[in-house]
Amino acid sequence: MLALSASLVCSPVLAGTAPAATGDKNAFVADLIGRMTLEEKIGQLRLISIGEDMPQPQLLKEIAAGRVGGTFNSVTRKDNRPMQQAAVERSRLKIPIFFAYDVVHGHRTIFPISLGLASSWDMETVAQSARISAIEASADGLDMTFAPMVDISRDPRWGRTSEGFGEDPYLVSLCAQASVRGFQGTSLANADSVMAVVKHFALYGAVEGGRDYNTVDMSPLRMYQDYLPPYRAGVDAGGGGVMIALNSINGVPATSNTWLLRDLLRKTWGFKGITVSDHGAIDELTKHGVAKDARESAKLAITAGVDMSMHDSAYRDHLPELVKSGEVPMRVIDDAVREILGAKYDLGLFQDPFKRIGAAEQDPADVDAPGRLHREAARAAARQSLVLLENRERTLPLKKSGTVAVVGPLADAPIDTMGSWSAAGKSGQTVTLLQGVRDALGGNGRVAYARGANVTDDAGVVRYLNFMNWDKPEIVQDKRAPGDMIAEAVAAARGADVIVVAVGESRGMSHEASSRTTLSLPGSQETLLKALKTTGKPMVVVLMNGRPLTINWVKDNADAVLETWYAGTEGGHAIADVLFGDYNPSGKLPVSFPRSLGQIPTYYNQLRIGRPFVPGQPPNYTSQYFEETSGPLYPFGYGLSYTDFGVSGITLSSPTMPRGGRIEASVTVKNTGQRDGETVVQLYIQDVAASVVRPVKELKDFHKLMLKAGEERVVRFSLDEDKLKFFNAKLEYAAEPGEFKVQIGLDSQAVREQGFVLQ
Ligand code: BGC
Repeated sequence: MLALSASLVCSPVLAGTAPAATGDKNAFVADLIGRMTLEEKIGQLRLISIGEDMPQPQLLKEIAAGRVGGTFNSVTRKDNRPMQQAAVERSRLKIPIFFAYDVVHGHRTIFPISLGLASSWDMETVAQSARISAIEASADGLDMTFAPMVDISRDPRWGRTSEGFGEDPYLVSLCAQASVRGFQGTSLANADSVMAVVKHFALYGAVEGGRDYNTVDMSPLRMYQDYLPPYRAGVDAGGGGVMIALNSINGVPATSNTWLLRDLLRKTWGFKGITVSDHGAIDELTKHGVAKDARESAKLAITAGVDMSMHDSAYRDHLPELVKSGEVPMRVIDDAVREILGAKYDLGLFQDPFKRIGAAEQDPADVDAPGRLHREAARAAARQSLVLLENRERTLPLKKSGTVAVVGPLADAPIDTMGSWSAAGKSGQTVTLLQGVRDALGGNGRVAYARGANVTDDAGVVRYLNFMNWDKPEIVQDKRAPGDMIAEAVAAARGADVIVVAVGESRGMSHEASSRTTLSLPGSQETLLKALKTTGKPMVVVLMNGRPLTINWVKDNADAVLETWYAGTEGGHAIADVLFGDYNPSGKLPVSFPRSLGQIPTYYNQLRIGRPFVPGQPPNYTSQYFEETSGPLYPFGYGLSYTDFGVSGITLSSPTMPRGGRIEASVTVKNTGQRDGETVVQLYIQDVAASVVRPVKELKDFHKLMLKAGEERVVRFSLDEDKLKFFNAKLEYAAEPGEFKVQIGLDSQAVREQGFVLQ
């Protein structure tokens, strides 16, 4: 039975009521579409950026006229309520709008950036951070997030490396699933769920030269094997939306790519949800040079399968005429509208348009009230995201006594500690490293703080970073002469027992539109480190950055190095927990660290070649660079602990795997050190001979486990034929019989190996 009678829909209904949803979604949506004018349908396709696109009074009028499907960038119930009222009280059909936002790694509580979350190799942590983000975002009247960002990135020059989960298809796919699961909860219709929009479909992380928004030219094999799986994982996990990438793919922009959006996404993958263009991407089709004007852009995008247009005017301006002229069939518009109404239905908005906005009387008196934050969970996630890269002579953990010199441009930098895309996070609520060390020491020790350097002394870079769309300039330069700042830091270090120095990138350096030509620390910071080193005091380098950096000098000269990415609201506490040994670090790198920029790309799962470089053998006529040691500075999967682990006795349950069968691989892992600790046991596979060239190794499984000092445990992995499948030259996904190597270890390089045969 259909919910709406024609008379009910077209006549004014009671204030605040949207069309009542029935149990039959398809019938409900079809009935509604049948009652919509073309203008109302096109209105549903519009996603308006609050503040950017139009002033609020005009926006309210547009909504009341049924010319808006959803908005993004407003973050309070109070802001969203009048908009929803305009939709469901004043528009003819009373169709609710939805409210979206970039809730990428937290909403009010900021969790570590995605690269940091991936470093936990703990999918419950990833899911939990998304769950809490959804609880907080929905409590602010939001229905949808433009996340997770699951673009594989293997070129760290790309500033958005920080937003993704790293370089590996398997790990990123698991993070994508966990994240969607966390955001969407048990049902999208729950008041504390938000719809996940998986982005950026597709291949955005492979932009040429790491230059943001650039083109992508990629073989189908690589695409299917490496870059597409995470989007697929997000879709298979039930992600309600997909955001389309800004780049072109093999000559066709994603935004006008029928193969990508209709054939692959909908037909092959069976995606049922909304596709959303990225910001202004439809208008940009003219800039790509595939549309001669905005009219053609609109036609290309809607035909290709772009349901919703974000911040573009092309749909509004040209679709009416394109439909009237017959160039765009009404069926194509209806298909897009069906998905958008379907999303609103799934979100429970037809049931109750104010489901996440609530009643005004229940609005929080202060949206930034400390009680709204989930600090404990943020601290737990942040601890897990930290990767110990060096620890000479067991410099760490530090004693909670004496004097600690806390130095560096990022030591007391709350904005940077949150990282980019920090949603509604407040820098004033963020615990910096300085604060974290002070809190950890309490009355037991002394802190001597000196900034030591600016993040960069390059005025042009500062101008660029401050030009971004932030509320206010983020980089505030210390006006003192660099030499004076260094002198102050060196004096602080001389009077201390240990130096903790925070260096890296300001968050704007690892952001959208922040591609870099070097991966080194800016000169100001290198000079500071070298000056501190002359004091002879133990030096602990705390890195804050959103991409792998080339830190050779740091590796060779620091006594300990802790990679902290951007650790979020509780970052300073979590870092101090590790520095003082209240938490034993367990993070592992989700990306390889190159030795130099020239080495890029350095991802671990490279394809096999005819003349590989083999460590320990003559390098001549092998694939390597003759001026530099081959291989990464730190490999994928690497990370130390305050204890030591040993892996031994890799065994397979059988030397052969029957077709459709499985075998078990097991290893003994022992905590050989003095402290309890966690590590991640990683299983890689190599297909020894296949019909196409396969990677040197591929991560296929891992277990994170806690072992008490001296404890040993057998870790078992189940391997089945699915784990051996890959795309062949015909893009068929299948495993081929023959020999396979199983490699198990605590990073991607230090592995033990056994072989078996797939029959
Ligand atoms: C970004 C997207 C983001 C959108 C809305 C774009 O510039 O590429 O990732 O979701 O803005 O903020």
